Amino acid sequence: MNEIFPSLVALATFVSVARAQPAVDLLIDHGFPSTGTLNLNTVLAAVTAKKGTFHFGSTYDTFNADQSWFDSVFSTFYRHVVAENGCKWDAPEPSQGVKSLTECLGAQSFATHLGFRVVVGTIIPQHVQAEIQGMGASVTSRDVVNEVVGDGVSAGMTSLQCVQNKCDWPLVTSDGSGVPLVTDLSFIFAAFKTAFQFAGANTRLAVNEYNTGGAEAKTACIINLIKRIQANTTIPFNRLVSSLAIPLGVSAMITEMDIEVNADTTPNLRYQAAIWGDYLDVCLYASNCFEFINWDPRDDLSWRGSAAAATLFDTNGNPKPAAYEVAARLQNFANGGAEPCATATGTGVCTITITGTMTVGRTAVGTTKTTTTTTSSAPTQPTGPTNCASAEWGQCGGIGWAGCLGCPSGTTCQVLND
Ligand SMILES: *[C@@H]1O[C@H](CO)[C@@H](O)[C@H](O)[C@H]1NC(C)=O
Repeated sequence: MNEIFPSLVALATFVSVARAQPAVDLLIDHGFPSTGTLNLNTVLAAVTAKKGTFHFGSTYDTFNADQSWFDSVFSTFYRHVVAENGCKWDAPEPSQGVKSLTECLGAQSFATHLGFRVVVGTIIPQHVQAEIQGMGASVTSRDVVNEVVGDGVSAGMTSLQCVQNKCDWPLVTSDGSGVPLVTDLSFIFAAFKTAFQFAGANTRLAVNEYNTGGAEAKTACIINLIKRIQANTTIPFNRLVSSLAIPLGVSAMITEMDIEVNADTTPNLRYQAAIWGDYLDVCLYASNCFEFINWDPRDDLSWRGSAAAATLFDTNGNPKPAAYEVAARLQNFANGGAEPCATATGTGVCTITITGTMTVGRTAVGTTKTTTTTTSSAPTQPTGPTNCASAEWGQCGGIGWAGCLGCPSGTTCQVLND
């Protein structure tokens, strides 16, 4: 399959919390290596051969310590570089009109030095052209618009309402006139138009968003926003999928994969490995998913903090069970194996069904993963008190949850991905 021309890509960001630990059945329990040195080069070449294209990588920033570990892990495990912060607005343009691509190009030169390509993080309209031209054509994916839809959206909202719901930016001007700052979507259209004009012919242009897996209203916002962008800019939808009717024809990418655990215990790390493997398989077995990016390469560099143990490698840079399970899933896929489902172990099977809907559970946008399970008892409902508040961004519900069910004042609780 060809790498495609500029096209729109819907990005699904998955950040999950590993909660209680049901028994899991990992491939590393069945003959796949669970110790020793990991080298994915051969298996990733085999996966790429099967899928046409496939990028498996992680984020990189130029100020990382321990460069030799980075050289090693990006030569043997993560084989695609994502500029974590170096290409975001404040690095390339620290004040208006002042261009400084040093950090952005640092990530690129690291990738080039290893002989591969780079994905760029957030870009905002006014400096799109300078950054794109400064980096050249080797960028495979460009996150043109990053996290612009609010978490409090509801069904039926217009694209503008979805964007205005994003409360990270002020909704009214600071002069007190009460005029909403975001009155139309022109800044998004401008970013895409400029990116399309100047990006390399192989660069995918992306709308990046998180929580699109469990929140249907938010997923609908993204779909509608992509339609609006396409209508305004006439950028072609991705034609990656040949025989399947994926709505819009956009491809999917998993862009910011990390899984937080509440304690660094063996059952938690095994459950983390199970979820990681099952997510990776969603992308591997889906015909429109070609990129799986892990957010931060090791636990001590994770934006979630070391204690969250949210990455594939521990604070010493040693592979965790999830790293071995990821290697095993890649090998199993390359071998033509059926899709395993570690998180439904003992109770059923997983199958991938491309239904053409954009309804997503824990799946890549554009695909639906159907999990068939037979359970012997009903899932345990949350039992915690409703009159106490969970931490902001903390867990506030879900199967078996015995902690607080209330949310801190000024926030809204959402239960995702039981
Ligand atoms: C695209 O959006 C801009 C800004 O909202 C608007 O001025 C322009 O007319 C739109 N173009 C098309 C083709 O819809």
